[in-house]
Amino acid sequence: MSGHDTPIPMTARKSGPLRGTAEVPGDKSISHRSLIFGAMAVGETRVTGLLEGQDVLDTAKAMRAFGAEVTRHAPGEWSVHGVGVGGFSEPADVIDCGNSGTGVRLIMGAMATTAMSATFTGDASLRKRPMGRVTDPLSLFGTQAYGRKGGRLPMTVVGAANPVPVRYTTPVPSAQVKSAILLAGLNAPGQTVVIEREPTRDHSERMLVGFGAELTVEDAKEGRIITLTGRPELRPQTVAVPRDPSSAAFPVCAALITEGSDIFVPGVSQNLTRNGLYPTLVEMGADITFENPREEGGEPVADLRVKFSALKGIEVPPSRAASMIDEFPVLSVVAACAEGITIMRGVKELRVKESDRIDAMARGLEACGVRVEEDEDTLIVHGMGAGNVPGGATCAVHLDHRIAMSFLVLGLATKKPVTVDDGSPIATSFPVFETLMAGLGAALERTPA
Ligand code: S3P
Repeated sequence: MSGHDTPIPMTARKSGPLRGTAEVPGDKSISHRSLIFGAMAVGETRVTGLLEGQDVLDTAKAMRAFGAEVTRHAPGEWSVHGVGVGGFSEPADVIDCGNSGTGVRLIMGAMATTAMSATFTGDASLRKRPMGRVTDPLSLFGTQAYGRKGGRLPMTVVGAANPVPVRYTTPVPSAQVKSAILLAGLNAPGQTVVIEREPTRDHSERMLVGFGAELTVEDAKEGRIITLTGRPELRPQTVAVPRDPSSAAFPVCAALITEGSDIFVPGVSQNLTRNGLYPTLVEMGADITFENPREEGGEPVADLRVKFSALKGIEVPPSRAASMIDEFPVLSVVAACAEGITIMRGVKELRVKESDRIDAMARGLEACGVRVEEDEDTLIVHGMGAGNVPGGATCAVHLDHRIAMSFLVLGLATKKPVTVDDGSPIATSFPVFETLMAGLGAALERTPA
């Protein structure tokens, strides 16, 4: 699916205490990877708990177009008959990755070292996002890419017939860039090395090892050095996708700002490359307890009990930014409901997400009566204290699921309701958001046109 034909305006209004259990769906990052790595293994990979959001469904469709057999057996239960590393066949049509930067960038990497071409496109949001960050390093393998001005989609990628291995230091902290290079390195002879100065989510590294690739990680002065030996035979796996900590952030933050709330959120990732939001909330004074720590689907997880809390603003350490990059929109909502100022620095990557998230949050918060300051790399929110944010505005979502969910969370605790102009992008990552939040007692509704 490309584009969201019919906008779905939605409104959130002041809600009573949120109570109950929030079982959020599968992790988006791991869901994409299970389909892509499964397609590059020889034999049948079984996946349970797959996120059936539109982003992941678009990746499933793409893997079929490259020759893998991808089958849905039951909700969340899928299988992938992979074609092996280097075994992709040339797609007969354009690959439409919809709204998903992760989908398009990882798939470009996966086909970049096989002699074929593929043309990629996406929705209006994805067509604005930079692909050069991926096609530049892929060109070092011998891959060519022809896109629109500024490295934008639609773009045709011509895979390298005789790829050479690559050593590359990522100029931006990006797990998508890192993963695209590792995926391309799978079909290059010798060792491909990616160096990242700041650690980013490490699902690709963990899963590649699980699928039988030879991969080492070394923490050195120059950063995290990831070395992958090319041309492995990937062995099919059974992947149990854990719940998505980025989706869990919405009910967690909603409970923190909605008076009297007390909710239980099971199976939230404690992976240090993903969980930066939680120490941040705790520093702000959040009443969160982490119960029953264990491992699920190869990831450390805990069950969270979250209670409404009087929060105070803090300065978020920039070194934590990569581990909570998708959580800044909802953190800025929590910050608006805290006492004092919250400073988020080192966040310029937010400008190239599904929308310019600094701009989208700043404009929407201002419309709701919150004072905000921003520069290229910084967002500062002047908190008003619990229950004091006026609200009463319609916020523009810019085809961005996390912007939509963030403002709907805000509306649960503002004096007047908050409307988003389009809730339809929520289906890309959290298709059950409305029912899950309503089950906790959130007053959310689709606004009549
Ligand atoms: C993702 C990486 C992050 C994140 C995105 C998912 C991934 O993007 O924002 O939602 O699965 O690799 P970047 O790698 O561009 O930071």
